[in-house]
Amino acid sequence: MPSRRKRVLITGAAGFIGSHLCDRFIKDGFRVVGMDNLITGNLANIEHLFELEAFQFFHHDITTYVHVAGPISATPMKSRLLTSPKRSLP
Ligand SMILES: NC(=O)c1ccc[n+]([C@@H]2O[C@H](COP(=O)([O-])OP(=O)(O)OC[C@H]3O[C@@H](n4cnc5c(N)ncnc54)[C@H](O)[C@@H]3O)[C@@H](O)[C@H]2O)c1
Repeated sequence: MPSRRKRVLITGAAGFIGSHLCDRFIKDGFRVVGMDNLITGNLANIEHLFELEAFQFFHHDITTYVHVAGPISATPMKSRLLTSPKRSLP
């Protein structure tokens, strides 16, 4: 039976910020798909996640086509910051 947990795609998953995002989303109960072309990232940052059923990794360059089956709900963090009346970016 497929998991009902929400699934998130984290690009740059093997990098500094991305690997911490993977940890956080896993901790919060999401299924995480990590994607990275490893140009600067390091698999050592996420190797502890490979054994988890909730984590999948794809070695992939995100500037090329990515097919995602099913509906997508996109919430870019940067645009949320930009539209928040309480925050501003320099
Ligand atoms: N201990 C620390 O405090 C610490 C450690 C490392 C970095 N930093 C800081 O963090 C910042 C950098 O972190 P970051 O996470 O933005 O950079 P990063 O290089 O760690 O992560 C970016 C990730 O994106 C991937 N990537 C780049 N282009 C891609 C593409 N086209 N397709 C797929 N993947 C792609 C890279 O391989 C990498 O894994 C800097 O400000 C740095 O100084 C802090």
